Amino acid sequence: MINHPCILILPLLLAALSGAVAGDYLIGVGSHDMTGPAAGVNMMGYANMEQVTGGIHFRLRARAFIVADRRPGPDGARFAFVNLDAGMASQLVTIKVLERLKTRYGELYNEENVAISGTHTHAGPGGYLQYVTYSITSLGFVPQSFDALVTAIELSVVQAHDRLKPGSIFINTGDVKNASVNRSPSAYLFNPPSERAKYQTNVDTLMTLLKFVDETSGKSIGAFSWFATHGTSMSRDNKLISGDNKGAAARFFEDWFFDNNGSSTFPASNAEQSNVARASTKQLSRIKATGGQACNKTASRESKVRKNDGLRFVGAFCQSNVGDVSPNVLGAFCLDSGKPCDFNHSTCHGDDQLCVGRGPGYPDEVLSTKIIGERQYQKAVDLFTSAESKIAGKIDSRLVYLHFTDIEVALKGNEVVRTCPAALGPGFAAGTTDGPGVFGFRQGDTKINEFWKTVRDAIKEPSKYQVECQKPKSVLLDTGEMFWPYDWAPAILPIQILRLGQLVILSVPGEFTTMAGRRLREAVKETLITYNNEEFDDNTHVVIAGLANTYSQYVATFEEYKQQRYEAASTLYGPHTLSAYIQEFEKLAKAVATGDRNISRGPSPPDLSSVQISLLQDPSGDSPPAGVRFGDIKQDVKSRKFRAGEKVRATFWSANPRYDLLTEGTFAAVEKLENDNSDDRWKPVYDDDDFCLFFRWDSSSGDSYGIATIEWEVPEEAVDGGIYRLRHFGAFRTAKDSPVEYFTGASNGFTVS
Ligand SMILES: *[C@@H]1O[C@H](CO)[C@@H](O)[C@H](O)[C@H]1NC(C)=O
Ligand SMILES: *[C@@H]1O[C@H](CO)[C@@H](O)[C@H](O)[C@H]1NC(C)=O
Ligand SMILES: *[C@@H]1O[C@H](CO)[C@@H](O)[C@H](O)[C@H]1NC(C)=O
Ligand SMILES: *[C@@H]1O[C@H](CO)[C@@H](O)[C@H](O)[C@H]1NC(C)=O
Repeated sequence: MINHPCILILPLLLAALSGAVAGDYLIGVGSHDMTGPAAGVNMMGYANMEQVTGGIHFRLRARAFIVADRRPGPDGARFAFVNLDAGMASQLVTIKVLERLKTRYGELYNEENVAISGTHTHAGPGGYLQYVTYSITSLGFVPQSFDALVTAIELSVVQAHDRLKPGSIFINTGDVKNASVNRSPSAYLFNPPSERAKYQTNVDTLMTLLKFVDETSGKSIGAFSWFATHGTSMSRDNKLISGDNKGAAARFFEDWFFDNNGSSTFPASNAEQSNVARASTKQLSRIKATGGQACNKTASRESKVRKNDGLRFVGAFCQSNVGDVSPNVLGAFCLDSGKPCDFNHSTCHGDDQLCVGRGPGYPDEVLSTKIIGERQYQKAVDLFTSAESKIAGKIDSRLVYLHFTDIEVALKGNEVVRTCPAALGPGFAAGTTDGPGVFGFRQGDTKINEFWKTVRDAIKEPSKYQVECQKPKSVLLDTGEMFWPYDWAPAILPIQILRLGQLVILSVPGEFTTMAGRRLREAVKETLITYNNEEFDDNTHVVIAGLANTYSQYVATFEEYKQQRYEAASTLYGPHTLSAYIQEFEKLAKAVATGDRNISRGPSPPDLSSVQISLLQDPSGDSPPAGVRFGDIKQDVKSRKFRAGEKVRATFWSANPRYDLLTEGTFAAVEKLENDNSDDRWKPVYDDDDFCLFFRWDSSSGDSYGIATIEWEVPEEAVDGGIYRLRHFGAFRTAKDSPVEYFTGASNGFTVS
């Protein structure tokens, strides 16, 4: 009996070696609304002061997954990954989320095993970052934006945690066509020809997708994918909150899954069931209608009405090395002549503001958002339905904080160089072809004229050391040496590695250019294989999760840095920034490969919450003009009959949407009249999360009220001869301390034929 103990032990041994056997994970997904304030708050991304929120095209969400080792015990490794429909992650948001998770779960979720990454939409409310540079245009810190993010991230993780169940994970990769172009191709050409020759294009077209499958039901519960393209399909003039192309892709993907497997929502946990009960007793304004694939004809709407989003499949589209990657795939053209812009500087006869990129739906930015979203979504569906490669192996994570302003970097050939305090060059002020910046600056400029030098020195004259260190960038804004009224730029940055079997995720706190990302991924992969060729090999997937955990702008290669286009001018820590990242990530990768847990965590980043300045006022009491009530129609629908493709519009007297963000609810709905005898015969069929329904907010006519416009682009699928109406929901206070009151209003009914 005991002749061959090895045979008995072997499977155990193998399982121990690989860390986990097939199906040996616990998996949970979660999703929560994080839309935030839809009126008067500066949007994060373009740094355009005039671009303030004025309504919602579709809602922003935090989407999370947790994977945990199924083996019981306190050491069962796990990590949580959260993807935000936000411009980027924020150090302060990360700090507060971790505090809240600590209160709930002790040490289970911590800085090392939680990653928070932004999709880089430029159409979400700003003011949630703690460094001055990133909150100038939002007039400082905006608590309401911040709280919406922190709460949504926390609750998405809680949901994922509550749902942890045994399951399998599959991985698949493929190329996304025509959803990205390089917006600084002249800088890319600075990279060595031998290096460029290794790649077919000047952008990374690869999408890497994870598919999560519940073991008991065999049904998928979610999918997360990574692919690099900027969230700039919506322009710098847009005022509607939007998840941009990645948010759109997520919306389409989740709707597609629902349409295909709508009845198969997985079983709710007890906590969720009580949520459902609560949801159904919530006030009218909290109704949750449903999505439609850009409101194309899909399954019958009625069957899709979901009372609680918490039960749904989570499909997330995450950002990667996005630095020089634009979704405006038609190229950049001069606004005046219509001709292509200057290649090296992206100007039109010297003017940076005339050179603007065009998306595939040009001049319709919503259409561009839809098309670039669809291209990602369709590839994700392909990868999802054909995913066969099962993930097996350890779950692991490492994080270190680095004082990035002074890292000694050993280059090949024994040369030792250093990173610098943060600084921005003139190319930063020029902006990009996705959103031109200040007049008078050009991408690729390494000189600053006397006028701007005088202005700069009035703000902060850079130290001699800094000037030398940053070359060939000339310092326009010496953010790393500016500390008044508080720090202008981060000095301490986290870098993080998450491992899930043969997938390795690198959380980087910024926007790596295409080639910078390639170099980092290759260096990490090589290190992993060098130190552990049993668990890592050529099939190991290394993905970059961009804009993660904190934000420190761009990372261009040493060669791209020479040209000083926008990405290089925004590479904060000097010409060797990328080399420093690679050096430090190699150390982390070695620690992962060798199982070394004895690495120094490094200096903690500051919590600057106590010194934040907030100059944007909260609304302090609204009342309608004489003779009307909030929710009353101002201008009704102009007809009783509409056709598919037409726009139905009504305006309402309304209060500032910041009194209650109606999180997981809606400000607008299209309702359909049902032929039943219930009291509630108007059933919601579209809400402000739907692509075909627009909620616009305008307060230019009054200080204590505004006008809400609800506009519905009638989709084909609605053409069933039914009777519809537009509905508005809102909330107000009459004074700062008075209670929040809710109102609603509806248009006349109309038919759609
Ligand atoms: C829907 O469920 C069926 C049966 O469980 C499964 O075969 C199919 O792959 C699922 N579809 C999707 C899109 O996951
Ligand atoms: C762009 O600049 C490079 C040098 O930096 C130069 O060789 C090239 O000719 C320029 N291209 C154009 C189209 O001006
Ligand atoms: C890329 O998309 C544009 C706009 O949608 C289209 O005109 C062009 O033909 C596409 N190119 C390829 C290679 O698919
Ligand atoms: C951990 O690292 C420190 C310093 O890097 C070293 O002194 C110590 O011996 C290490 N401990 C182990 C167990 O390797």
